[in-house]
Amino acid sequence: MSNYHIKHLEEYYKVYRKSVREPKVFWEEIAEEHFVWRKRWDKVLSWDFKKPEIKWYEGAKLNITENCIDRHLRTNGNKTAILFEPNNPDEEAQHITYNRLYERVNQFANVLKSQGIKKGDRVCIYLPMIPELAISLLACARIGAIHSVVFAGFSATALSSRINDSDCKMVITSDGSYRGKKTIDLKGIVDEGLEECANVETVLVVNRINSEINMKEGRDKWLQPLLDDASKECEPEIMDAEDPLFILYTSGSTGQPKGMVHTTAGYMVYTAYTFKNVFNYRANDVYWCTADIGWITGHSYIVYGPLANGATTVMFEGVPSYPDYGRFWEVVEKHKITQFYTAPTAIRALAKEKLDYVDKYDLSSLKVLGSVGEPINEEAWHWYNDNVGHKKSPIVDTWWQTETGGIMISPLPYVTPTIPTYATLPFIGIQPALMDENGEEIHGNQVDGRLCIKFPWPSMARTIWGNHQRYKETYFSAYEKKYFTGDGALRDATGYYRITGRVDDVIIVSGHNLGTAPIEDAVNEHPAVAESAIVGFPHDIKGNALYGYVILKETGESRDQTNLRKEINQIITEHIGPIAKLDKIQFTVGLPKTRSGKIMRRILRKIASKDTSNLGDTSTLLNPEVVQEIMDNAL
Ligand code: PRX
Repeated sequence: MSNYHIKHLEEYYKVYRKSVREPKVFWEEIAEEHFVWRKRWDKVLSWDFKKPEIKWYEGAKLNITENCIDRHLRTNGNKTAILFEPNNPDEEAQHITYNRLYERVNQFANVLKSQGIKKGDRVCIYLPMIPELAISLLACARIGAIHSVVFAGFSATALSSRINDSDCKMVITSDGSYRGKKTIDLKGIVDEGLEECANVETVLVVNRINSEINMKEGRDKWLQPLLDDASKECEPEIMDAEDPLFILYTSGSTGQPKGMVHTTAGYMVYTAYTFKNVFNYRANDVYWCTADIGWITGHSYIVYGPLANGATTVMFEGVPSYPDYGRFWEVVEKHKITQFYTAPTAIRALAKEKLDYVDKYDLSSLKVLGSVGEPINEEAWHWYNDNVGHKKSPIVDTWWQTETGGIMISPLPYVTPTIPTYATLPFIGIQPALMDENGEEIHGNQVDGRLCIKFPWPSMARTIWGNHQRYKETYFSAYEKKYFTGDGALRDATGYYRITGRVDDVIIVSGHNLGTAPIEDAVNEHPAVAESAIVGFPHDIKGNALYGYVILKETGESRDQTNLRKEINQIITEHIGPIAKLDKIQFTVGLPKTRSGKIMRRILRKIASKDTSNLGDTSTLLNPEVVQEIMDNAL
């Protein structure tokens, strides 16, 4: 384990320099020492950001599940791999050992095979946070099927468009899910979505809530009886390093969500190595990431990264407010959690509640706290540091993206001195660049610009499923030979990075990445709506909330605006999901447009944020008079 755990700041700089000077040597050593391969690679890296084409560990053969499960059996078979904490605190937690995980994954993999799934087929997974979710990912990976997890809060329309985009043959779902006091009819959503999906042959259904559901003859099958009949041994499919492991959709600033494709070897190496270092993972730790596996955070840092390290990873089915606002801390005490990784929006929501909810639990097991998904504001950072970490657990503010596969900029706990709101230093091997408006790199410190990465790293997404051109245009065209993140950042005097937020039309709401275009498309579906524009504005808990400016086809006092607002949000819920609902909807007669017809979102953002002191020059607009009208009626 020579250069696997970084121990102090000088070592970080030393290893970092090596990783930049000799990236191929560096990543070769990591891959050699810490993973099992069926065949060694011929070439560590080949890359061309122009095409773009990136290959890591070309020629290598492996199966990621052998690295995440099989190799731990000899020494750690009886160790808990997945610790499942149910929604209801009275339901017993489940400890799934590595031995048991091996059996369950193999049985599931055999079921997939028996249902005709082969290497390269796409399988859509639409499940709540229950063990079958993690197991189904691993079962796909075992046989070389490509999983495409869709977050179980997405609507039927969002689900069907993702299923069709990647042409999935199978959907894995459950009868329903528990969420706090509520139950959700997942199978009903799947049935509705599948009306639009001609190519789905099979739906496997997990029984989670014992509800009455419709089972379509010939298509829908209960999972459990199939598992009961399946063998506990399943030879892993031997994959090429660059074979796709999964597709995961993320919002773009325009158009449909992008199916980011992650491949096998590089993703495995990078998520495992970052997991170990960013969370200072040690053999007896109990690690908990509260994200949903429907997002990249769950893929990389609930499933693959922790399991590749032989860790115990907690899966939590519930919500932070059920049965009360102390739930997170109750679980920390109960399972003696050592690393706790969550989102700023959750911290802000809990910080609003009485301190008693935190104080009554013993949190002394914690040694690292993590934050992810959006900038963490100073107040939330201090609340987390004081009341959860008791000023002794370092906070790792981890910046990364669905596209990057793994953590890119982050402190290393007990190594990097932290400053609130700073993601601090690039991870080993990561070469950030800040770019100016003319496309030039800004060198030196105390500067800000658009954040790019100028050298490949092993876990970067390789393409957008079915649309390589869009991949090229979105990430590699803004700046020559650089990956453009879509974020702005500043670099302070010591070289620390602070992420300042998106510079495109993606809005991060409660840590969820939302593109404005698909929401506007949904709003425009309402028969009374002529046009709409959506922007973000600051929100105490969500970080950002959505503000919609809507032009109606027919104006007039007679329309019931309250009802219209409800209907518009209902359409958004149906098309995307409740996370994309608008907090404010302002009806207006016009939208500020440039002479070429482009909506001036900058002005709309300022009005929504109540920051109208400096709107800039509006005289060049096609319709400058509309700005005053919008300001007068702002909500
Ligand atoms: O704007 C950045 C923000 O979340 C975006 C990526 O979202 P997504 O692909 O959904 O992945 C989220 C989980 C990795 C980024 O472009 N973001 C993520 N982490 C941070 C952040 N912004 C500031 N600080 C962070 N730590």
